Amino acid sequence: MTKTAFGLVLNEESMYDGQRHMCPAGYGADGQYEKREKDMRLRNIPGAKEAILESPYVVQEPENCRNNWENVFPEKNPLHIEVGMGKGRFLMDMARLHPDVNYIGIEMYDSVLLRAVQKREEMHEEGDDLPNLLFMRMDARELPLVFGEGEVQKIYLNFSDPWPKARHAKRRLTSREFLARYEQILEKEGTVEFKTDNRELFEFSLEEVKEQGWELLASTFDLHNQKEMMQGNVMTEYEEKFSSMGNPICKLICRQKQG
Ligand SMILES: C[S@@+](CC[C@H](N)C(=O)[O-])C[C@H]1O[C@@H](n2cnc3c(N)ncnc32)[C@H](O)[C@@H]1O
Repeated sequence: MTKTAFGLVLNEESMYDGQRHMCPAGYGADGQYEKREKDMRLRNIPGAKEAILESPYVVQEPENCRNNWENVFPEKNPLHIEVGMGKGRFLMDMARLHPDVNYIGIEMYDSVLLRAVQKREEMHEEGDDLPNLLFMRMDARELPLVFGEGEVQKIYLNFSDPWPKARHAKRRLTSREFLARYEQILEKEGTVEFKTDNRELFEFSLEEVKEQGWELLASTFDLHNQKEMMQGNVMTEYEEKFSSMGNPICKLICRQKQG
């Protein structure tokens, strides 16, 4: 059991158990990719915690920034976050393409976040700094403790863990429980953009959007062949890997009911 910075208790064993049963679709037909990912998350990389605690790219004690995020970045700009960013490549590309948006990448595992931090350090040495991008190590269940009402304009969910067992449904980042958390931090017209190659998870997500009374603004089961929705698409690491294996990518965009 791990106690998080905000006092939430996580049962890691059952979480990893969920990972072990990830749906094969898109997560490596032979299970190898899935196994490597799990191993990576489980691996206790010596010094990871310390490197993250010292990194200028990681917000420490983010709950202290609640309702004050516009003053954390050098420029006051809309705030977009990615929940479950992995190694952060998507947000690094987005931050470079959109300097007029502030981005925060959220990841719950030190070992994974460390990869993103190391990449930023390499980029810094090459003179490529992204002042509009910060990271945070936390469980997304704690989002409302870190962001105030309406503080976030957009939430990206990319290739979120499927948690295929029915009893773990509320851990899926597109479950009604998570949508309710997003309602607490998104501005009224703020959107959630979700991509996955896992069709079951996608169909579940479409249902949850409806159940939670949200509006579905756009959706496709084959993003890479949908010209309109592909405009401005930035590939994530998982998207590149699974689309190159021939898996169609699903995408939806939704927001809370207006009015
Ligand atoms: C399958 S990876 C996808 C990584 C990346 N978004 C991409 O598309 O390449 C999902 C990531 O979400 C993180 N994650 C899962 N549940 C989370 C949660 N509740 N809070 C924060 N991060 C989470 C995992 O640790 C993992 O790194």
